[in-house]
Amino acid sequence: MPRAYALLLENVHASATEVLGEHDVEVRALPKGLKEDELIAALSDFPGDEPCMVGIRSKTHITPRVLESVPRLMAVGAFCIGTDQIALDEARRRGVAVFNAPFSSTRSVAELVIAEVVILSRQIFSRSKAAHEGRWDKSAAGAHEVRGKTLGIIGYGHIGSQASILAEALGMRVLFYDIDKRLPLGNATSVSSLAELLGSSDFVSLHVPDTELTRGMIGAAELAQMRSGAFLLNLSRGKVVDIPALRDALVSGHLAGAAVDVYPREPASTKDPFESELRGLDNVILTPHIGGSTQEAQANIGREVAHALGHYLDQGSTLGCVTLPPLDLSSPASSRRAEASRIVNVHHNVPGVLSAINRVIAESGVNIVGQALATTDDVGLLFIDLPLSRDDQQVQTLESAISSLTTSVRTRLLRL
Ligand code: NAI
Repeated sequence: MPRAYALLLENVHASATEVLGEHDVEVRALPKGLKEDELIAALSDFPGDEPCMVGIRSKTHITPRVLESVPRLMAVGAFCIGTDQIALDEARRRGVAVFNAPFSSTRSVAELVIAEVVILSRQIFSRSKAAHEGRWDKSAAGAHEVRGKTLGIIGYGHIGSQASILAEALGMRVLFYDIDKRLPLGNATSVSSLAELLGSSDFVSLHVPDTELTRGMIGAAELAQMRSGAFLLNLSRGKVVDIPALRDALVSGHLAGAAVDVYPREPASTKDPFESELRGLDNVILTPHIGGSTQEAQANIGREVAHALGHYLDQGSTLGCVTLPPLDLSSPASSRRAEASRIVNVHHNVPGVLSAINRVIAESGVNIVGQALATTDDVGLLFIDLPLSRDDQQVQTLESAISSLTTSVRTRLLRL
């Protein structure tokens, strides 16, 4: 009997099956997404009463009804960045852990940024188009090396800092602007204002999240602050740049070109048409949100999410979890004892809950060798490490007593 079952949908990369197998999880994989009823039926079809997990990408929706209908569903893996397709509040209330992969495509995006910096600088698009049309536009006019030019990075997080290292390897000078204090890598230099970065860069590349502060952060005024003949790259989020203002700056010749991968409105499917005010401008590279779309990123996503699911199954670790508070303890009890177990308890975060749980254990006479708690507003996650084997009758009685408390949402007993 496996320790858990997983249903992986939508062609999740095979790396996930491999990693889950190492955690003794039996995987069923399907290439397509499933509708609500099909999903409930597929998850209810696993034998035995071991817990189950589901791995999805963007097409399958984890609705409140799915969560309610499959109580043995302990975790959801979103093998992608977004989690809009999952009823997160309901999952948290039911103690279902949801993991995603926010950083697996970092390198893929950074590489595309560098490629586009060179392509823009050498006018590759218009030259290639001309060659395809039978014209031999061989002139060096307007074409430049990127060595010695300045790349200004807005948002020096995972992607921004990777792009910084790659750009320096090409001999570029790197400036960055971030609202948080960030350690400059290599010879990159932090600047204290957006205006300073815009006015000092030959290429400006955006790597910020979509927040109230970043929405519309590059509009007509900011574009005017950029150097004449500079280039703008946006592979972050669509609403960060005011697209009509960017079009004006490109048409007027103030900016020499742009590369855009993300848009305020993106087609919902490959069948829907793509509309943008930037279409038709030959100094603009338009890509269909493919910054992170590589085989390597897919394999990384498969591994990253499967590792998170596996650690949650084995140790209760919720690092990187979108729904439950972060808690990670590398088995303190097991390092000292041959036999040890952990009760993982998700509970309603109300006064008195801890004393009720500890009273149950105190009355049993079993000593607690490790305990850790993390909470959100409405939910608490508690680890209780005990110096007895998971197979010990006393531990199993404790788990079921804690599980039956009215404050408990979900309780599991792990072997450490
Ligand atoms: P990250 O969270 O590691 O870094 C974001 C950085 O932006 C942080 O250092 C943060 O302090 C900074 N920041 C936030 N607000 C700011 C502001 N108002 N001004 C200046 N800096 C600010 O994120 P990561 O992984 O580097 O991703 C960056 C962006 O790239 C995200 O929007 C993400 O959605 C997008 N992305 C796009 C992909 C694509 O396919 N084109 C693929 C993966 C990510």
